[in-house]
Amino acid sequence: MLQILPATVAEEGAELVAAIDALVARHGAKRGALLPILQDLLAERGEISHLAMQVVADRLGAAPSEVQGVVTFYSFLGVDRRGRHVIRLCRTLSCVMAGARDVAAALEVELGIPFGGTTPDGAFTLEWANCIGMCSTPPALLADAKALGGVTPAHVREVIRALRAAGVPA
Ligand code: FES
Repeated sequence: MLQILPATVAEEGAELVAAIDALVARHGAKRGALLPILQDLLAERGEISHLAMQVVADRLGAAPSEVQGVVTFYSFLGVDRRGRHVIRLCRTLSCVMAGARDVAAALEVELGIPFGGTTPDGAFTLEWANCIGMCSTPPALLADAKALGGVTPAHVREVIRALRAAGVPA
C-alpha cells in the first residue's frame, strides 16, 4: 500500500538529501570522502540519522552497513543527536586518579544534565572519552575540538562560558 509521508517529513528528507549532495560535491563521490562527509554532516545537523547513512552510502556507492560501521566505530560521530558543543571528559586511569570524577560532578551540576545527556536548549552534550593523549596533565577533557589538561572543578564554569562565547563550532 502506498504510504504518504507527512509534508514536514518529506521536506526534511529533501533538505537532508540536498545537504548530503552538497557535501559530496565538496569532498567527492569516493569512498575516501566518507569520513569527512560524515564529520561535516554531524557538524551541520547535530546527528547522523539512519536515513542520512543510507543516502551517503548511495552517493558513494558503498553499502549502508559500511557507512553504519564507520559511524559506530568512530564514537565521536555517533548516531544520536548532540548539542552544539560537546564536552568529553577522559575517564581513563590517569585522569580518574587525578580527580576526573570531581570534574564530572561539577560539569553535571553546572549544566544540569548527566553524562550522555544534552541540555534542553541543545547547547551542550556531556560525554565520556577514553584517553585523549593528555595523560601528562590529567584530568583532561575535550571542549569541542580543544584539548584541555589539568582541569579542576573550579575551571568548569570558565570552560562552559568560553564555549558559549565561541558560538557554533566550525
Ligand atoms: S588518561 Fe586521560 S588523557 Fe590519557
